[in-house]
Amino acid sequence: MKDDPLLWRRYLGEFHTEKASITESILDQCNDEHGQTPYQWLQEQWTATPDERILDLACGSAPLWVQAPTGYVLGFDRSRSELGFAATRLNDVVAGDVTTLPFKDESIDHIVCSMALMVFAPLPQSVREITRVLRPGGQLHLLLPSRTPINLFDVAAYAGVKVALGFARFATPSTGDDTAILTELRRAGLTVEDIQRRRFAYGLNDSRAVEAFVASWYTPRSTPSQLLQAERILRKFLGRSLGVAISRWLITKPLSAPPS
Ligand SMILES: C[S@@+](CC[C@H](N)C(=O)[O-])C[C@H]1O[C@@H](n2cnc3c(N)ncnc32)[C@H](O)[C@@H]1O
Repeated sequence: MKDDPLLWRRYLGEFHTEKASITESILDQCNDEHGQTPYQWLQEQWTATPDERILDLACGSAPLWVQAPTGYVLGFDRSRSELGFAATRLNDVVAGDVTTLPFKDESIDHIVCSMALMVFAPLPQSVREITRVLRPGGQLHLLLPSRTPINLFDVAAYAGVKVALGFARFATPSTGDDTAILTELRRAGLTVEDIQRRRFAYGLNDSRAVEAFVASWYTPRSTPSQLLQAERILRKFLGRSLGVAISRWLITKPLSAPPS
């Protein structure tokens, strides 16, 4: 599936039709040591003036904008089911694919992309489109899954889950592996200013929390019985918190193109 963009896109489309807003329902329950959610952590990264245009790319249900934005925020996503939620929070929403963004060159001041860049396919074309619509001096703000930091308990719990899923858990394009993303961003002429990593805790409070957590993963290669086995493993840890490692990236588009 990872190597077949068409199959992957179909899987993603069906996933977000059936489970719209599921990413928000999980990440909103995740907290760092200060009680912040990943979305609040990302929001700290920019200050936009009211006249600046913000594009929430692959906005999903638009969890970043639970409190109405002060400036103009446009939500963009492939999934009309996700956009149904986003439309209640944002100034405007547009359905489409990141590989052909329906926006003018250099027309956006900030692009925010939370937990999505790693699933875009093909990645090079997606990054080229992002770069095209961002104005020189504009910023790209990313949240991405990360492999670290996690603690020893997390390592043990995830090892059990990986065995249950036949090691197919990370079957999505570039999940947790920053190399391809870094390469494409730099190739497109963007500057990676900062990458920070943080562990967020998700409470395995009861069976429903476990089922929701497993349901939120992209698992295109796993069978229903493997997924049930993963739930069984996590149920052994009811009452504990499992780490979800996330990275936050700040990227800028230089004011002038580097000399060729
Ligand atoms: C994991 S969800 C993240 C949603 C939201 N940003 C959040 O943080 O909760 C990934 C989102 O990317 C969208 N998506 C995936 N591939 C896309 C593409 N090629 N073009 C536009 N949106 C895409 C999906 O529809 C989904 O809403």
